[in-house]
Parts: sequence; structure tokens; C-alpha cells
Amino acid sequence: MESNEYYNSSILSAIMFLVFTIHPGANAQGLVPALYVFGDSLVDVGNNNHLELSLLKADFPHNGIDYPGKKATGRFSNGFNFADFLAQNLGVPTAARYLSLSPDSNNTDSYLAGVSFASGGAGIFNTTNLGQCISFDEQIDYFATLYAVLVEQLGTEKTLDHLARSIYALVIGSNELINYAKSDPADSASPEDFVGSLLATLQIQIKRIYNIGARRFVFIGTGPVGCCPGVRERNETKECNAVGNYVSNLYNTGVSSFLNMMQKSEDMSYSFFDTYNAVLQYIKQPSTYGFSEVAEACCGLGDLNAKIGCLPVSTYCANRSDHIFWDYYHPTEATSRLVTTTAFDGSAPLVYPININQLTTS
Ligand SMILES: *[C@@H]1O[C@H](CO)[C@@H](O)[C@H](O)[C@H]1NC(C)=O
Ligand SMILES: *[C@@H]1O[C@H](CO)[C@@H](O)[C@H](O)[C@H]1NC(C)=O
Ligand SMILES: *[C@@H]1O[C@H](CO)[C@@H](O)[C@H](O)[C@H]1NC(C)=O
Ligand SMILES: *[C@@H]1O[C@H](CO)[C@@H](O)[C@H](O)[C@H]1NC(C)=O
Repeated sequence: MESNEYYNSSILSAIMFLVFTIHPGANAQGLVPALYVFGDSLVDVGNNNHLELSLLKADFPHNGIDYPGKKATGRFSNGFNFADFLAQNLGVPTAARYLSLSPDSNNTDSYLAGVSFASGGAGIFNTTNLGQCISFDEQIDYFATLYAVLVEQLGTEKTLDHLARSIYALVIGSNELINYAKSDPADSASPEDFVGSLLATLQIQIKRIYNIGARRFVFIGTGPVGCCPGVRERNETKECNAVGNYVSNLYNTGVSSFLNMMQKSEDMSYSFFDTYNAVLQYIKQPSTYGFSEVAEACCGLGDLNAKIGCLPVSTYCANRSDHIFWDYYHPTEATSRLVTTTAFDGSAPLVYPININQLTTS
């Protein structure tokens, strides 16, 4: 009995050790004080669970089937997403859902540990999925509230120091680009005008985040949205939508040149990840990256498993690590992990002018 108890308690301490090593608390030494996340479903960790009227949710099976405890947390993924892997690489906790915290002094510690404002369906324009998500502008409003709470508790100087050393991950734009790829060309603005209007608004938004106190930005560019199963399946031969990919690339180029310009005039640094070219590489040479299915979604129904999303009635594939896409619009955990590894430790031309690891000491 005694030796069993001893055995059990040492297993327990080993587990506790692992838990605290893998998920350091707010006081553990991360590479930066905290991670703040803005964006859409690619990085939502469950904010939309709190939006009663939203249909854009993932808090039901088979989402989360590879998450610890097979839990459907609201992540649009079979497991972890980019926000989780970025936090793990930085040695900080995954940013908490902003909507799970009330905006008052009681949450100062949570605010300091990192917060996610990301929301499935969010876009650069307020009108994108209006009423179903927290738009990018609203996410920035929430960040301003967080700033005000911290200033009240810690004073301006300490707050600005904390915010300046933390990392801000931005993952936004795909929802508008997907809508554009699916729209009738006859009713649409030209690709250049369309991307130009996205960029004009985005620049104001990034400057707002900067003006509140952010200095270290990570921008994860959009993938080739024309190759999402949900866009591909609309083509009779199931090929990538050329217009969708063209605007994705145009958008990424515009974002990275804006950041490059901003760095020259402002006290900030950034790391840009070219998701477009990274994912096209996975699609063109899947076996090099451990994939075997590049077009079909793992979870869904209909052509390419992409007519319908990942609902409890949908079917899902046996092996999630050989699929690039989890459902009609979202990558698998395997893809998110691969993207993060390259964004964190990789080099140009996929990540530039510095990688995320270098950004932590910039
Ligand atoms: C903050 O915490 C205090 C003490 O626990 C509690 O009395 C108060 O109601 C809390 N405020 C809010 C807004 O939850
Ligand atoms: C979104 O709405 C807010 C007001 O709620 C406004 O201040 C902001 O300029 C709008 N943003 C865009 C991109 O239209
Ligand atoms: C399908 O995709 C190919 C390659 O982009 C394109 O040439 C073709 O016109 C597309 N078909 C339809 C119906 O969009
Ligand atoms: C699933 O796919 C991965 C990546 O291609 C492969 O390494 C693994 O062996 C596969 N697992 C099974 C059970 O087939």
C-alpha cells in the first residue's frame, strides 16, 4: 500500500511538473511578458462561444477531436491552432479569451498574462459577418479598454513598458478574400481596387494598435484562399480558384510593404509570415511535409468534404496529420504546427525581415 501511494504521488508530481513546464503560469519565464492575439477563426480560442446570437461557432464535435480530452473548445481545428503553438514557442500561456474576462480591475493579472480578441468570421470591415463576430475594429476597442484598466492599476509607465515588450499576433483578411473569391466577378470591384480598400482600412487599424502601445508585431499573412476546400469545390475540376489566390498574394504583398514602411517611421518591429507561399509549397510537394491529402477537407460532407462544414453529423478522416485542411476553410493542427515552427525559427523568403524568435529580442 505504502509503496503504491508513494508511486502514485511521484507519478502525480511528474505530471504536475510536466503540466507546469509545458504551460508556464503568468510568473514563469517566457521569452516575452505576454502574447496578445487579434484576428479571425484561424486564431479564435473560443471568444465566439460567448456570442449568443452567433452561428459562427466551433464548440461542438468533431472540432477538438485531437485536443486534450477531445474537448471542443471553440477552436476551428481538430486540435490546437496557430495561437496555441505561438504561445508554446514563446513560453507563455495561450492568451485567454477576452470575452471570458470582465473588463475590470479583478482581471488585471489575466490582462497581463495575455489576451485573445480573435473571433471566428471577423474581418477588416465592420460589415463582414456583422453581428456574428467581434470585428477587428471592436477587437481594438477592447484592447483600448484593457489598456485603460492596466493604467488604472499599474500607472502609465509600467503599462506601456509591459505592452511594448509583449507580442501582438495579427491574423486577419481571409474572410473578405474568401468572399471575394466566391463572388460573381461581374458584381465585384477589380482585384486591385478591392485589395486596396482592405489595405487602406487595415493600415489605420494597425496604427491604432501601435498608438495604444504595441511595438512588436507578428503578421501571419493569408494562405492561398483559392485552394481552401470550400472554394475549390465550387470549380467543376476542383482546381484552386485563380482569382482567390491572386488577391491573397496581392494582399500579403501590400501588408508586408506597409509594415516595412511603418518600421522606417515608427518605433516598432515586426515579423511577417508568407503563409501564401508556405501553404502552396505544402500543396505542391505534400510528401516533403508529411501530407498526403491537399485538396479535401478532413471533416465535412459533400464534394471535397466541403459542401458542409464540420458539424456533428459530418464525417471525418481517420488520419488528421496527413491532411492540410481540417474543414472547408481551416487548416489541421498539423498545418498550424508546421506554419508556426517556420514562422518562429525559419528565415526569408518565408518569414521576414526577422523571424518571431528574433522579434522577441528586437
Ligand atoms: C471584483 O472582486 C471583488 C472582490 O472579490 C468583488 O466584490 C467584486 O464584485 C468584483 N467585481 C466585479 C465587477 O466582478
Ligand atoms: C467600424 O465602426 C466603428 C464604430 O462602431 C467606426 O468607428 C469604425 O470606423 C468602423 N470601421 C470601419 C472599417 O468601417
Ligand atoms: C476551374 O479552375 C480552372 C483553373 O483555375 C479554370 O481554368 C476554370 O475556368 C475553372 N472553372 C470554373 C467553372 O470556374
Ligand atoms: C498519419 O499520417 C502521418 C503523416 O503522413 C503518418 O506519419 C502516420 O504514420 C499516419 N498514421 C497512420 C495511423 O496511418
